Amino acid sequence: MSYFSYKNGVLHAENVALSAISQQFGSPTYVYSKAALVANFSAYADACKQHSREPDGTLICYSVKSNSNLAVLQLLSQLGSGFDIVSGGELLRVIAAGGDPAKVIFSGVGKSREEMRLALSHDILCFNVESIPELHRLNEVAGAMGKRAAISLRVNPNVDAKTHPYISTGLKENKFGVAYEDALSCYRTAAALPHIDVAGIDCHIGSQLLDDAPMLEALDKLIELIDQLASEGIDLHHLDIGGGIGITYDDEKPVAIGDYLGRLFARIDAWRQQKYQGVPIKVMFEPGRSIVGNAGILLTEVQYLKHSEAKNFAVVDAAMNDLMRPAMYQAWHGVQTVAQRDTAAQVYDVVGPVCESGDWLARSRSLAIEAGDLLALMSAGAYGMTMASNYNTRGRAAEVMVDGAQVHLIRQRENPADLFALESLISP
Ligand code: LLP
Repeated sequence: MSYFSYKNGVLHAENVALSAISQQFGSPTYVYSKAALVANFSAYADACKQHSREPDGTLICYSVKSNSNLAVLQLLSQLGSGFDIVSGGELLRVIAAGGDPAKVIFSGVGKSREEMRLALSHDILCFNVESIPELHRLNEVAGAMGKRAAISLRVNPNVDAKTHPYISTGLKENKFGVAYEDALSCYRTAAALPHIDVAGIDCHIGSQLLDDAPMLEALDKLIELIDQLASEGIDLHHLDIGGGIGITYDDEKPVAIGDYLGRLFARIDAWRQQKYQGVPIKVMFEPGRSIVGNAGILLTEVQYLKHSEAKNFAVVDAAMNDLMRPAMYQAWHGVQTVAQRDTAAQVYDVVGPVCESGDWLARSRSLAIEAGDLLALMSAGAYGMTMASNYNTRGRAAEVMVDGAQVHLIRQRENPADLFALESLISP
């Protein structure tokens, strides 16, 4: 079900016309649907409830990097979500949004000492450790604080996630995780460190995966390792399979969340039954895109129509600094006109005002538009605002959350003065 649909020829977010949002808040503006966020999170939560015998048997750790607006984090926290973070800044956001640090896992290859101290002082659930040097640093930092750090090792299972090379993370040549072959010895090292508690295992093989076969393949490899560790007396309490389920941008047909989780739990349950007398292991997920991606759009206004011999351009007020995905990954986002027109359509490249040829948002789209019309760039809820920059001294867009007929401003538009407020002139 889409939470962005036409009513009387005007595109709405839930019950609010996008034209009304533009009138009130201007453009470009990111617009999120609360109902869509709730439905997407519930797809995970319901599948977990259905398959897990214990309330504490699963934890969904929403991947903050996909959309870190405080109101989004607040809503997910209220729904019971934990959080997957990759920086101290993301931890502070989670806390500011009312999230529970005891449900936070900390991923990333480059955690600084300061970030470790911050996370330990808030007693987060687990550090997803990605290298041996990181393990030693964490042991040292925890020791100095008189604490113990719970860890999971991010294991690189060397499976091909068959997605864009920039968002594939589970292959040998990627910078992430410890190599599968080295995992056992890393766990032995971890188990011998005085300020480390070995808690779990995790992996994340890539993003925008349409098929769950690579994830189930990764799961089998993790299971093998857990058994080997158990035979050495290293018992893990949780298994974190990462995020990665894709969404429909165009005509992709990603696996349904419930089906994927069903297959995953069936495999895990059979294994626990066979090897551990049915004693369960806690199962964790780190979804981002599949929760927020299709819950958001970027609203933009056509500034000029420019017709050249080779192409027609629709120059809009959003740009690559607002939505980086097309420039960075040649990503495809649907373009819908907010008001439907009867006039003849023409083929346009939708481009922004930034001084780069790479500043395009959509190419070769058939659109019936005039200057001043509003467009919605669809499926922009994930990795949209979080990847936005201030290139060309452009203030970042406003963000609003629609809830039924209500609209909440959840981030003000940046002013140019905000952008250089931290800079200084040099005194003569
Ligand atoms: N866990 C870890 C350790 C990750 O690195 C990521 C995403 C996730 C979870 C969440 O993955 P998701 O469920 O969203 O696929 N900027 C790119 C996507 C980068 C993904 C980075 N890691 C894009 O716009 O497509």
